[in-house]
Amino acid sequence: MKPYRRLLFFISLCFSCSLSLSQDEPTGNGYKVNSVHIDPSGKSLAAKLQLINSTSVYGPDIRNLNLFAIFETSNRLRVKITDTDQPRWEIPAQIIPRESENFHRSLSERSQVILQESPHVLSISDSDLIFTLNNSTPFTFTVTRRSAKDSDPLFNTTAPGIVFKDQYLEISSSLPGNNRSWLYGLGEHTKKQFKLNAGDTYTLWNSDIAASNLDLPLYGSHPFYLDVRPGGISHGVLLLNSNGMDITYTGTSISYKVIGGIFDLYFFSGPSPVAVMDQYTELIGRPAPMPYWAFGFHQCRYGYKNVSDLESVVDGYAKAGIPLEVMWTDIDYMDAYKDFTLDPINFPVDKMLAFVNRLHNNSQNINNSYGTYLRGIGDGIFLRRNGSNYLGKVWPGDVYFPDFFHPNASDYWKEEINIFQKILPVDGLWIDMNEISNFITSQPLNQLDDPPYKIKRAVLEKTVPPSAVHYGNITEYDAHNLFGLLESKAAHDALTNITGKRPFVLSRSTFVGSGKYAAHWTGDNAANWENLGYSIPSILNSGLFGIPMVGADICGFSGDTNEELCRRWIQLGAFYPFSRDHSEINSIRQELYIWESVARSARKALGLRYRLLPYYYTLMYEARVKGTPIARPLFFSFPDDSEALEISTQFLIGNGVMISPVLQQGAVSVSAYFPVGKWFNLFNYSDLVIANTGEYVRLDAGSESINVHVRGGNILAMQQEAMTTKASRLTGFELLVAFDEDGRADGEVFLDDGEVVEMGGEEDLSQWSLVRFTGSVEAGKGVVKAQVVNGTYAADHKFEVDKLTFLGLETTKPATLKANALYVNGFEVSKSKGVSVKSEGAGRFGVKGLSQPIGESFELEFEFTS
Ligand code: NOJ
Repeated sequence: MKPYRRLLFFISLCFSCSLSLSQDEPTGNGYKVNSVHIDPSGKSLAAKLQLINSTSVYGPDIRNLNLFAIFETSNRLRVKITDTDQPRWEIPAQIIPRESENFHRSLSERSQVILQESPHVLSISDSDLIFTLNNSTPFTFTVTRRSAKDSDPLFNTTAPGIVFKDQYLEISSSLPGNNRSWLYGLGEHTKKQFKLNAGDTYTLWNSDIAASNLDLPLYGSHPFYLDVRPGGISHGVLLLNSNGMDITYTGTSISYKVIGGIFDLYFFSGPSPVAVMDQYTELIGRPAPMPYWAFGFHQCRYGYKNVSDLESVVDGYAKAGIPLEVMWTDIDYMDAYKDFTLDPINFPVDKMLAFVNRLHNNSQNINNSYGTYLRGIGDGIFLRRNGSNYLGKVWPGDVYFPDFFHPNASDYWKEEINIFQKILPVDGLWIDMNEISNFITSQPLNQLDDPPYKIKRAVLEKTVPPSAVHYGNITEYDAHNLFGLLESKAAHDALTNITGKRPFVLSRSTFVGSGKYAAHWTGDNAANWENLGYSIPSILNSGLFGIPMVGADICGFSGDTNEELCRRWIQLGAFYPFSRDHSEINSIRQELYIWESVARSARKALGLRYRLLPYYYTLMYEARVKGTPIARPLFFSFPDDSEALEISTQFLIGNGVMISPVLQQGAVSVSAYFPVGKWFNLFNYSDLVIANTGEYVRLDAGSESINVHVRGGNILAMQQEAMTTKASRLTGFELLVAFDEDGRADGEVFLDDGEVVEMGGEEDLSQWSLVRFTGSVEAGKGVVKAQVVNGTYAADHKFEVDKLTFLGLETTKPATLKANALYVNGFEVSKSKGVSVKSEGAGRFGVKGLSQPIGESFELEFEFTS
C-alpha cells in the first residue's frame, strides 16, 4: 500500500506589506421598567427601561434602553438589551446569523401593553425555561427552569442591576454556589483545571500570549459557559458580544464588565451537556467537517532548514515505522517571512514541488516585487488608522493587515491562495498570529485606545490599535476579537472554492462560531510536565466552544523536551482529536523517532489511534450534526456523577473511550477515576475494571503502558492500523461489541471518501453511509443488529466487517460459543468456510473471517456458555 501524506502550507498574518474607581461610588444605579409589550403567543416580550440615576464613572449612562426577550426555539431564549435612541455596535448577522433580528420592531407594533409600572412579575415561557421580568426598582430579570421550579434560578440578575454606558456595560447574576453549580467554559485561557475556579477573572481580548501562561487572555474569545446543576441538569449561557471584557466568577456570582456593544444573552436549556452543545452550535454554526486525512498524525517544527531537512524527517518516520500523515512547514519556507512566497534558496519552488509530488505520489499528503502586497494596495483592502493604512510589524518587518470586512477582501484572499496553489498545491492552510499579533505597541490616538474601564489586558498592547478602522467605519475596538474568525471563514471558503474539496484550516485565533470553518491548536505551550497536564482542560474547552478538532503541540513547543516527557506526551497526544508534534526553533529536535522508547510508544499509541480512525471520524460526523465534542469531559457521559464533574486529568473520546494518561514525571502508576460501569482495556480487551459506583482505581502505568478503556455499552467500528489513513481505510472492519452490566451496547459508523465537501449531505445520498448498531445479551443468547440509515456509499465501496469481538459476556470465565450457534440473518455462519469463532479470554470471544457488508442491515445471533 502506498502511503499517503500531505504538505500543509502556513500563512502567518504578516504583510510587507483609567479611570480608577473610588470604592464607594457604584458603577451604576440601574434602570426601571417603563412599559412592557408582550406577544399574544407568550413567546416574546419587549420592555422599555429608563435610567434611575446616573453615575459619573466610566462615562455617562445611556438613559433609555430596550429589552427584548424571545424564545427563538423551544430550547433557546434570547435576552437583548440595547440603546433605544442610538444604534450600537452588534456583531453583524452576516458573520453570525441570528433569527430574531427584526422581531422587536414587529413586536412593538403588534402587541398590546400588558404592564405599566405595576409591581409584579411578568413571565413568558415556551420551553423548560421561564423568563421573568421583575418590575422592581431597579428592575431585575431571572431565568428559571419550569421542571425544577423550586430549585435555584439559572440566571438571576442582581441589584443594582445593569449598567449601560457607551464604553462600559455591566451585568451580574447570582449563582447557587459550591456543589450546587459547576461552571465550564469562558476562554481562551490555559487553566490547571477544567472547572472554572471561584475567584478567577476571565479576560477576553484576543492576544498573542503564549499558552504556557496560566490564566491570561490567550488567542481566542468565547463568552460562553456551561452550568451543570445537581443531577447533571445543565444549561448554557452565551453573551454574544465581541468587545473586550472581564468576566468574574466568584462561585456565588458571575459578573460581566464589557467595554462596548450590547447585552445579547442566549440561554440554552439543555438539560444534558450534550443537548446544550447541540443547542449552542445550532446557533453559532455546526463544526466544520474535517478531511479524513486530518485525523492522521502530523509533524511540524518552526526551524526546518530546507527541503532536504523536510525529506529527512519523512524518511525518519518511515524508517521507524511510525505513521506520518502530514508534514508541515512553518514560516521557514517563506521568502523573508512574507505570506504566499517561497524562500528561493532553501525552499525553492522546483525542490518544493518535487517534495510535494513525492508526498502525494506516495499517496502521503502537503517571488521580487511582492505581488500580494501590491494587489492588496491596489484593492485598498488593508486596515486603516488615522487616514492611512496602518503599519504594524510582524515577522517580515513592516506589514499591513487585510481587512476582512472589506467586500473585496475574500476575493483578494482567494486569489492569493489560488496563485500560490498553482505554484505549489498544498493540502491545507495554517493561519497564525491572527489575534492580530503585532510586534509593536502604537501610541494611543483616542479614547478607543485608552477606554475608561481597563480590562485586565491593555487593549493597545502588541496588537492593531483599537482606533484602527475597518471598511464601513467599523472600529477595531469593536471588531478586534473577530479577526481570526473572519480570516478562518475567508480561508475556508477560498480553499473550498479552489479545490472543490473539504478544506482544512488551522487557526490560532478564534471566536464564537470559528468551529464552523477551522480547527484549532492550543498555541505555544512549553515542554514541561505542567503543560502536559494543562493540555487536557484546553482541548476540552475548545470542544465546548464548538471547535472539536483540536490538539496541543505534542512534546511541547518552547524549551527543550526530553525522552520521558515526549514519551508520555505522545501516549496522551495520540488521542487528541488533532494530533501534531510541533516545536520551536530554539529547542532541540523532537520528532518521535529520535528516542527509541518514544518511537515504541508512538507506534503503540498511534497504532491504536489508527485502528480507531473510523470511530474518530464518526465522532466528527456527530460533531457536524449535533455539535458534540470529539474529546469530552467524563461528565458528558456521566452528568449525574458529581466526581466526574471534577476530573481534569482524564477525558473521553466520544461516549465511551476513556484516556487516563500519566501526567507526572517518574510515575509508574496512575490513579484513574472510573464512573460506574464495566471498563475494558482497549489494548488487550482484558484488564477489566468493574466500577459498581464511580471509583478511583490505581492502574499500572509503567513507562510504556498506556491506559485507554472502553466502557461496556459501546460498539466501536475499527479498522487495522497502517502507516497512512488511506492504507488503513482499505482494511477490513472490526466491530468491537462491549456489553454493559445490563447486557446492552450500541454505536454507529459514518463513512464517505473523506474529502467530499459536506459530510452526510442530503443532496447526494450516494456519497456517504451511516449504519447504527445495537446489541443485547441475555441468558447465554446475544443479538447484534446493524440498521442501515444510508448504505449506498458503503455498498458501492464494498466496506465489510471481517471481525467481531464480543466483550462483557460475563466476567470470570472464558465464553465459548455453543455449537451451531452463530447466525447472520438466520443463516448459520459458524461453520462457514474461513469463519472462526474463538474464545479469547474471560467473558469474550472473537469471530474472524466474516465478510459482512456494512452497507446492508444485518442481524447476528449467537448462543454461548461460560
Ligand atoms: C507562533 C505559533 O504559535 C507557532 O506555532 C509558530 O511556530 C510560530 N508562530 C512561528 O511561525
